[in-house]
Order: sequence, then C-alpha cells, then structure tokens
Amino acid sequence: MKLKTKNLLTLAELTPKEFVQLIDYSIILKKELKRNVNKPVLKNKTLTMIFQKPSTRTRVSFETGMYQLGGHAINLSSNDMQLSRGESIEDTARTLSRFTDCIMARVYDHNLLEKLSEYASIPVINGLSNSFHPCQILADFMTIKEKKKNFKGLKIAWIGDGNNVCNSMIYGCALSGVKISIATPKGFEPDKTVIHESKKFIDINLTTDPVNAIKNADVVVTDTYSSIHNIDSKRINKFLPKYQINQTLMNNAQSDAIFMHCLPAKRESEVTSSVIDGPQSVVWDEAENRLHTQKALLASLIRA
Ligand code: CP
Ligand code: NVA
Repeated sequence: MKLKTKNLLTLAELTPKEFVQLIDYSIILKKELKRNVNKPVLKNKTLTMIFQKPSTRTRVSFETGMYQLGGHAINLSSNDMQLSRGESIEDTARTLSRFTDCIMARVYDHNLLEKLSEYASIPVINGLSNSFHPCQILADFMTIKEKKKNFKGLKIAWIGDGNNVCNSMIYGCALSGVKISIATPKGFEPDKTVIHESKKFIDINLTTDPVNAIKNADVVVTDTYSSIHNIDSKRINKFLPKYQINQTLMNNAQSDAIFMHCLPAKRESEVTSSVIDGPQSVVWDEAENRLHTQKALLASLIRA
C-alpha cells in the first residue's frame, strides 16, 4: 500500500481507512516474518535516523525493519552532525534528501520536524517529539487489534500524564472510532487542540478521577510521569499514589482488559510490577509490534 501523505508527523495526516490498512499490513508482515518471509521491497533504500534524545525500541525497530525490507539505516546522534555546529535544518533536510530515501527523527521541539519535512523532498517520520509519538500508537493499535480482534465498541482508559504518547493515542482513537477516557491530575491534561479536533469523531471523557476513567475499560494505558523532556523529580508527587496502575485499580476495568505501556516503564511508579508482569499485560507484544508497524510504515511511505 502507498499512503497519500508524504510524512508522518502526528497521525492526523492519515485517513481512518489508511490507519486501519497500515495495521492490517503490519499484521501480514508479522505473519510473513514468522514464516521467514522477508520481501525486499526497500532494496537499495536508505533511512536516515536522527536522535536528539535516547531510544532503545525506536532505534532498533527502525534499523531492523529497514534491514528486513532489504534496505539500510544510518543512525546519527544530532550531536555528531553539523546541526550541532549551526548548520540549518533547511540545509540538513536538502542534503539528506540527495543521499537517502527517508528521514526518521526523534526531537524535542515538534516544529523542528515540520521544518525538516518542509525542506526535505523525501518522507519525514516522527520518531517522538515533545508533543507526539505516532509510531508508538500504530504499534499500540496493532496490539489492540491482535488481542481484541475488532475496534468496534472498545473503550481505552489513559491514566497518568497527558503527554506526547497520550496526544497520539487520542488521534489513534479518532481514526479507529474507539472511545477514550483520560484521567490526569489538574495541569497535566493532553493537548487542547488534539482534544478539540478528535471530539468531532469520538467520545472523550476527561477527568481527574482514575477510578471513573478505568471503569469498564477494555484497554488500560499509562506512561512514565517523567518524559525525556520533562525530567523533574518532584513531578511524581502530583501522580502518586492516586494514578498508579495497580491491581486494585485494574479490577475496575473489564475482567479481560489488557494493560499497555510504551516503555520504558518505572516499576512501582506509574505501574506496579504485579500488573506489568501480570497476565493482563501485553507490553512485550506491544514492543515487538513496533518492528512490524515500522516496516509497514516505511514500505508505505518510501517511493520506489
Ligand atoms: N517506546 C519507545 O519509543 O521506546 P524508546 O524510547 O526506547 O524508543
Ligand atoms: N513519554 C515518554 C515516552 C518515551 C518512549 C517520553 O517522551 O520520554
């Protein structure tokens, strides 16, 4: 499949149909890989990966994904690039477009991705910004589809920080028609524009009460209280103990609810070990699915 959009910066570039097709394509790629089938659809193609922030899953899944599709990935820390000595984003984008076929960047300021995509003639993928993490949410909805079979009638509960992953989760819900209930402390709500745009398509319940949010949820999601761009040891006091996902809180969700977390997790902080290591947790499938969704995305964005 080929996507209409040139870039993937927020998920809002996708149509609902494309979102579902990408997930279905990822499921096919996963099945093929399990049978040792790797079609070299990106033979001779190169992905440039730029990291302003650390990463384990995003870096390894993109690099492995390119390799399995017959292509190649170059990993660059922004500190090692001329960007760190003042070369402009515009000139970096123009240069990389002459050598390689796609850019994936993990950045602080989301505007930097917009600028990169404006001046690059090749696709630009957001590998996480302070505002969004679209690739994570593709993997999350693939995992939900695998576990629940269908998006229809599902309810997601997001408990904790209304952060970059939460913003993309809301877009994912709007694209799939899944209801979402979000419990955050006051002042930690997700982006107002994302809520406003998504409310046109789905029910969004915003609350400060985690028990209210998790009631009858099919999928329970949280993330760290300290994102890479938000490291402040006092932040945790705004969340604990009220917003921690523990078994007592989980018991308010559907009995077959699944627990998700993009990882890395801080055990006994946003989630207890008994939940993340327990039978309702699907976090390792979720992590694995980063590989399959990344491959589907790369194959659908990079032109022949
Ligand atoms: N979930 C995620 O993006 O993980 P990394 O920070 O390890 O890439
Ligand atoms: N919200 C976290 C996600 C890490 C994958 C962060 O931005 O650090």
